[in-house]
Amino acid sequence: MGMAIAPYLFGRHGFPRCRVVLDRVASSQAYSPRTGPGKMIMDYVKVASASDVAEGVLVPVEAGGLKLLVTKVGGTYYAAQRKCPHLGFNLCRGKIEGEAVVCPLHKAKFDLKTGQIERDPRLLFIGMKAKTDLTTYPVKEEDGALHVAVPKPA
Ligand code: FES
Repeated sequence: MGMAIAPYLFGRHGFPRCRVVLDRVASSQAYSPRTGPGKMIMDYVKVASASDVAEGVLVPVEAGGLKLLVTKVGGTYYAAQRKCPHLGFNLCRGKIEGEAVVCPLHKAKFDLKTGQIERDPRLLFIGMKAKTDLTTYPVKEEDGALHVAVPKPA
């Protein structure tokens, strides 16, 4: 019985099996979360005024239909998915630690540069596993505005 339930719980309810990693391709803005570098064209979309994103503050933005966060750490801007890859909590309610964002719900920690998980989620003494890294997006500042590269609609 336990074996029959496990795929149901872990396959369909919040624990994706595949690992999504964005590969940065030089400065070309061509990223692909699914098929590798160069397969998906990305467009820079204006998301905010640079003055709206203060150092260490997590700001919710939208670009290309994606709900993202942008932040500034050590003078560098970062953009990432807003939903925590663990159980979908809003990472804008989290905090910055070094160059990482920490989810307030189970304290998972994700590198803002690479999206890689630095600390697995925990609930009191129960350790959990985040199944995917955070998806991050390139950001550039131009004429006082922040632009995030997101997949171009087909
Ligand atoms: S929802 Fe973010 S760590 Fe659990």
